[in-house]
Amino acid sequence: MIKTLVQISDTHLMDAPEKRFIDMNPEYSFHSTMHDICDRYHQIDSIIHTGDVAQVAVPATYERYLNYMQALNIPFYQTPGNHDNLSCFPYPQQKKITVIDLDQWCIILLSSAVTGQTDGYIDCEQLKQLEYILEEQQDKHIILGCHHHPLHVESDWIDQHCLKNTRDFTKVLEKHTNIKAIIHGHIHQEAQICFGNIKVLSVPSTCVQFKPKSKDFALDQVAPGYRVLKLHDNGHLETEVYRVYDAQPQINLNISGY
Ligand SMILES: [Fe+2]
Repeated sequence: MIKTLVQISDTHLMDAPEKRFIDMNPEYSFHSTMHDICDRYHQIDSIIHTGDVAQVAVPATYERYLNYMQALNIPFYQTPGNHDNLSCFPYPQQKKITVIDLDQWCIILLSSAVTGQTDGYIDCEQLKQLEYILEEQQDKHIILGCHHHPLHVESDWIDQHCLKNTRDFTKVLEKHTNIKAIIHGHIHQEAQICFGNIKVLSVPSTCVQFKPKSKDFALDQVAPGYRVLKLHDNGHLETEVYRVYDAQPQINLNISGY
């Protein structure tokens, strides 16, 4: 049986659905993205949101997100980003690490967000738990997820806000050969890099996009999108990014930061 995993990220939702963010409506582009996903795939095993659920990170924003996602009747999970509020973030299993069992596959979401910081860090406690989980899940194919990018993407301004303890993280992974991919958000663009045999995959934001390989902050006119991962029982993984042209925002490219 092939499992279908969908990754979305960086919805940057406001505290009210009509409010705008960088000259566009993140609620509208999020919903357009979800419609496109549901039109294209009728059998989805899980949707993973890799962080920055909220731009205005208050309980009302998360409540609206949860209500919308619950109505889709598809299992969904989220891990926080730097824009999220860790004190009211809806961790799916009420802890920083979320473990999702998909038969031959196991998805492990880690929290790389640190209150008050734009860059990321996976704390010791999670890394210890991860070691234990990986020992337990040796017969499964593994996908790891977190918000921040563990490897640089040749964009100076965003690379300074990467995951800061990537070495501690990869040390835990080195002992295992069943880890197939790391999925992340944060960089608002599609990227695919290899770390040994592990694919490191990012996804476009469902709202604004950042220009790839830009030294300084720059927005990109490319449409929002999402990633689909097809997981085969034998550990083979196929993945593709889809763009949602209906959700194309009219953005002001002169904006110098967010
Ligand atoms: Fe973001």
